[in-house]
Amino acid sequence: MLTGTAHSYSNLSLSDEMFFLFSDLIYRAAGIKLNVQKKSLLISRLMKRLKKHNMDSFTEYYKKVKADEEELVEMLNCISTNTTKFFREKHHFEYLKNKVMPELLKNKADERIIRIWSAGCSTGEEPYSITIAVCEALKEFGVKSSELWDIKILATDISTKVLRTADAGIYEYEQLPEEMPKEIISRYFLKGNKENEGLIKVKDFIRDKIRFRRLNLKDGEYPLKRSFDVIFCRNVMIYFDDGMKRHVISKFHQHLSDRGHLFLGHSETVFDREQLVPTYITVYKKSMNGNCGHKRESEAIM
Ligand SMILES: C[S@@+](CC[C@H](N)C(=O)[O-])C[C@H]1O[C@@H](n2cnc3c(N)ncnc32)[C@H](O)[C@@H]1O
Repeated sequence: MLTGTAHSYSNLSLSDEMFFLFSDLIYRAAGIKLNVQKKSLLISRLMKRLKKHNMDSFTEYYKKVKADEEELVEMLNCISTNTTKFFREKHHFEYLKNKVMPELLKNKADERIIRIWSAGCSTGEEPYSITIAVCEALKEFGVKSSELWDIKILATDISTKVLRTADAGIYEYEQLPEEMPKEIISRYFLKGNKENEGLIKVKDFIRDKIRFRRLNLKDGEYPLKRSFDVIFCRNVMIYFDDGMKRHVISKFHQHLSDRGHLFLGHSETVFDREQLVPTYITVYKKSMNGNCGHKRESEAIM
C-alpha cells in the first residue's frame, strides 16, 4: 500500500509468473484467454485498479482480487474489450428485418411472443440496433401496433460498467452511422439541446423493450426461463479458446427455440453444423428439436 506522496506507476513491472497467475484467474472467471503478447495491455488495464486502491504492486492487487468478489467484477470491467457500434455488420440487421422477422411474424401469429437475446451487448449499440430493426420490420410488414405482439430483448454482458452505459441509452450524435436516414433518427432517438447538444437519447418505447442484465457466458447454467427465437453473440467468442467456444455454442443451442437463429461475428463460426445450419453470412439456424432447460421463474432473468 502506498503512503505519502504520489507514486510513479511507470516503473511498475509485471513478472511472467504474475502475468500467468492473472491470466489463469481471468480465464477461470470469464473464459477470456490472454496470451503473453497481451502483457502490456493487461498492465495498462490493471494499473487503473492499482491506482484506485493506492497499491504499488501487482502481487498485492492479485491478493485483493482473489479475496474480494466485488473487485473481481471491477477487474473484469477493466480487462474486457468493449468495441462496438450501431448497426455493426449492417447486413445482419437487414437479414433480421427482411428474412427472420417476417418468418417469425408468420410462424408465431398465434402466440405473438418473440424473444431476442444480445449476448455480450457491450454499451448497448447492438441491442438498440436489433430493436430498431424489429420495429422497422413491424412497420414494413403491416403490423398495426407492436402492442399486439409481446416482443422483448434481453441484453447481457459480463461488464457491469458497459451495462450502465447501455441502460442509460445516451450516446454522441456522431456515433450514429453517417448513412442513417433522418426519419429513422427522429423515429427512435431524441436529440439533446443546450448542455446536451451533440448527444442523442434512445426513445423510451425502444428502451422499454430491452432488459439489461449481467450474465457471464462462462457459467455452467444460464438463468433463462424461456427459449429465444434469435440470439446475437457477435465479436465475443474471439476472446475465448475452443473449449469455451464449444461451451457457449452448446448453451446457445440449448436456449434457442426450434428454427431459432444464431448470429455470430464475421470471424466466428459454430462447430456442429448438423445442429446449427448456416443460412446466411455467419447466421445459423437450429435444425432439430432441443430442450430448453427452463429455469424456475424466480431465478430467471428472462
Ligand atoms: C467486442 S464487444 C462486442 C459487442 C457487440 N456484440 C458487437 O459485436 O458490437 C465484446 C463484449 O463481450 C463481453 N464479454 C467478454 N467475455 C464475456 C463473458 N464471459 N460473458 C459475457 N460477456 C462477455 C465484453 O465485456 C464485451 O462487452
